[in-house]
Amino acid sequence: MNLIAISGAHRNGNTERLLSEFVKGCRFIGAKVKTYKIRKMKISPCCGWSDCYYANYCIVKDNMKALVNELVSADAWVLATPVYFDDVSSYMKIFMERLNPYCNPPRFRNKKVFLLAVGGASGRSISKCLQSMKSGFARHMGLKVVGQLSAVADKKNEILENKAALARAFNAGKRFAKTTLDS
Ligand SMILES: Cc1cc2nc3c(=O)[nH]c(=O)nc-3n(C[C@H](O)[C@H](O)[C@H](O)COP(=O)(O)O)c2cc1C
Repeated sequence: MNLIAISGAHRNGNTERLLSEFVKGCRFIGAKVKTYKIRKMKISPCCGWSDCYYANYCIVKDNMKALVNELVSADAWVLATPVYFDDVSSYMKIFMERLNPYCNPPRFRNKKVFLLAVGGASGRSISKCLQSMKSGFARHMGLKVVGQLSAVADKKNEILENKAALARAFNAGKRFAKTTLDS
């Protein structure tokens, strides 16, 4: 079983710490997991050529093409983002927008996806971010959101003090990999 983890974080901080626990849980079940950090890749913002929606290809030449091939062959994805202004980070947004060529027809229809978000404030802000990922991106792409996880942490690596959140992420990773394996 091959899984892809996408990080939309702007730093090696709370989101990636939580994601890394999730990935450990997936690997515990035997999954192969490749992690991609958008900030470290040559992936440009969408150029706005919205004919890609009909033409089903992207005219921007960068690492996104190779990443799309990985996304096609993966059994499931986990998308991790820090919460920025009640929504995903700009790196995660770039990743999502660059998938516009694959919405119509939905090339990734029913691909299993797990969503992970870390925000500095508890409550509505994080829920709004997760809701935006579901009702915007996942719906347009026809993805099957099979689970979500969030945690509150603000200062860099503050999440490391939250052992309960790290354990939740590890267990969620195990469940996600098991469900993917069983289906
Ligand atoms: C530009 C910016 C906007 C933010 N907006 C929110 C927000 O709307 N809601 C929230 O809960 N936290 C917000 N935060 C706090 C981050 O989500 C928080 O610091 C989180 O731990 C960042 O994750 P990271 O350590 O992986 O970068 C914001 C941070 C930045 C830099």
